[in-house]
Amino acid sequence: MISHIKTESGFNYIEVKNDAATAKIALQGAHLFHYRQQGKEALLWISTLSSFVLGKAIRGGVPICWPWFGKHSEDSHLPQHGFARTAEFKLVEDNEPNPETSELVLELQDSVESRKMWPHRFILRVTITVGSSVTVALSTRNNDSKPFTISSALHTYFAVSHISLASIEGLAGATYLDTLTGETEKQAGTIEIDQEVDRVYQAQPILLRLHDGKRQIQIKPAGSASTVVWNPWINKAAAMGDMNDDGYKTMLCIETANAMQDKRVIQPGEEHCLKVELIEEQDSP
Ligand code: BG6
Repeated sequence: MISHIKTESGFNYIEVKNDAATAKIALQGAHLFHYRQQGKEALLWISTLSSFVLGKAIRGGVPICWPWFGKHSEDSHLPQHGFARTAEFKLVEDNEPNPETSELVLELQDSVESRKMWPHRFILRVTITVGSSVTVALSTRNNDSKPFTISSALHTYFAVSHISLASIEGLAGATYLDTLTGETEKQAGTIEIDQEVDRVYQAQPILLRLHDGKRQIQIKPAGSASTVVWNPWINKAAAMGDMNDDGYKTMLCIETANAMQDKRVIQPGEEHCLKVELIEEQDSP
């Protein structure tokens, strides 16, 4: 079942309930901010201080960073991570092919406002499939007469039981840019977090696995050859107005991306799809 909800402050979101799972998706940013499989705990982290107001990105869930990831390369006044996460999308399709699956398609097209920030014509479609797993697919179509370049990310905030128990498997041997030091490093073994981490891995894993002490989550990327791993740790969490001081202990961002060397050039009339499927495995013994 799909319900349309409007909060008192005018924030629109869609609630999905089917036999396999529940989910919530904001029209602003086509932002999946809640997903829970029946009988399990919430998969995504959401800040208790996140404001659901138009024009401000939700802190948690799966923000969509597009058409640039991180700071704009030339103009620091433009919003970090692009404008899609604060733009109002339209729901253009909703399907429930069976009692356990709901599929929503949300769309954003260029406008006078978007062309002031990024002078290109595009159709951006986000397809969210909610079932016994959840998939977010971000498809960029170049509707212009010249090529354009995008960088992007499905900036997934995972809820973890405690950051000290979390580890990421699947990037051993990959090269990464440590954006905190500017150094390029090579990943040895699994990734564990015991300090601030902000890294862009260049690799094309078929499967990543997040272990958090209580459960294991499979992360299946497609159309991506870069992964961002981020945890703000103590000082940055305390400095962020929309994260509790100890919020960093229960979240970990693993972002399926097209970032840095993995940015994409899209030719007129062509389309590129960046996608991730998240699957919760049976509880660890
Ligand atoms: C991560 C970046 O993807 O997003 C970090 O690598 C950044 O550098 C983080 O701090 C959060 O960004 P924002 O704009 O949502 O505060």
